[in-house]
Amino acid sequence: MQADPKAVTRWSLEHALPRQLVRVARRRGDLQARLFFAAEKHETADLVEIFREAQEKGPLVPSRLGYLTADHAVVREVLGSPDVRTGFPLTADSPVGRALTWAKFGYLHPLRPPSLLATEPPDHTRYRKLVTRVFSVKAVDALRPRIQGIADRLLDDLAARPGVVDLAEDYCAKLPVIVISEILGVPAEEHDYVLQLGTGAAPSLDFGLSWRAAQHVEQSLRDFDAWLDHHIERLRREPGDDLMSKLVAARDEQGGLNEVELKSTAGLVLAAGFETTVNLIGNTIALFSDHPDQLALAQADPGLWPNVVDEALRIDPPVLLTGRSTTRQSTIAGQPVRENALITAVLAAANRDPKVFDDPDRFDVTRANAKDHLSFSSGRHFCLGAALARMEAEIGLRSLYDRFPDLRLQPGRRRRTTRVLRGFEHLPARLGADHAAHV
Ligand code: HEM
Repeated sequence: MQADPKAVTRWSLEHALPRQLVRVARRRGDLQARLFFAAEKHETADLVEIFREAQEKGPLVPSRLGYLTADHAVVREVLGSPDVRTGFPLTADSPVGRALTWAKFGYLHPLRPPSLLATEPPDHTRYRKLVTRVFSVKAVDALRPRIQGIADRLLDDLAARPGVVDLAEDYCAKLPVIVISEILGVPAEEHDYVLQLGTGAAPSLDFGLSWRAAQHVEQSLRDFDAWLDHHIERLRREPGDDLMSKLVAARDEQGGLNEVELKSTAGLVLAAGFETTVNLIGNTIALFSDHPDQLALAQADPGLWPNVVDEALRIDPPVLLTGRSTTRQSTIAGQPVRENALITAVLAAANRDPKVFDDPDRFDVTRANAKDHLSFSSGRHFCLGAALARMEAEIGLRSLYDRFPDLRLQPGRRRRTTRVLRGFEHLPARLGADHAAHV
């Protein structure tokens, strides 16, 4: 079949050309370009070496592609600055970016307006207000018993399976998608479909994709868009006691958001609600497998679980980095930075800044300032779901190890192929004594 020429042009501009530029820059030793390829190989040691090099070079490192920062204070400065916007120069929240919206493509994209992740005030403030109202701390807190119930049910299912189980697929992926789907009124029979679409769309945060990968992502985004239309319509006809019904009603009563803005905001909450938390749970299981002494500490003192979650977020964050660009000539880290410069804020590197964290490469569940990580970003785009993610991971991990204290990962763990989102797609495991008793 002949490829659509528009799709080919789009792929060339968004993926093929940038990849080529990064490849050339890497040959010249460019740090940002080396980070791009190291992230693709998923070797933590290689990434950490680049983080160190960046930190030694200074708080804001110029590169052929813009700037990179691996410095905790400067990452915060960039993310909080009124002189930067999300995304690449000239795209995201800019005249060019706005031209590349839903209306242009006919489907939502997490990095194109009107996505929360691709907009800035005043639009961003308007969208965010709608969700923060509905997604209040109180509403999230009330979910604790439901999350525990879902975790217990999944653990019952695991216990009933003989032999080696895949914790990534059968537990880490399922818990967050069921939780966020229940919150947003998605019927149980559609959870697997939503998970499939979310997994298919996850590489949409990466640039430089192959033609095949880019087409698969685009199809997943189109299908997700169509499914969301259907879901919002259904909640309008038959509202439930879920947050998405409240969100739809809030926008219908108060106005302020058009239909596409509502769909984009609701869709991002849904997708962001599971595509990252799955990684947090899986990454922690892998860390415990490599550091059984740290698991023993948590098992001996259950009060440590919230700190376990923050320390895992710090040392192996589900989101590697985020991009910003300057909207005007500005000063960052005391240096003049021109307008429209791309700045890569490496969250994972800021989390290992030795100025903030003692012995930063050590996984230490008792670390007093683990919570100072930047894995949920900072500033006006700070993760809306941070409290929910922390609660899910804490319940999910504690319940898993309470139920299967002798759980052992088996050879064959495999990282997901996504670059910005870091997690595992396979975590084969034997569940241990309690498991054997059930089979
Ligand atoms: C461990 C789990 C999670 C991690 C590591 C994470 C990380 C992040 C990061 C780094 C950002 C900001 C990106 C940037 O500054 O460019 C973000 C934004 C966001 N997250 Fe999360 N997230 C997680 C879970 C969740 C959950 C459970 C939800 C759903 C409620 C959620 C909803 C959002 C939304 C809606 C935004 C956009 C906020 C904005 O741009 O104003 N996230 N998240």
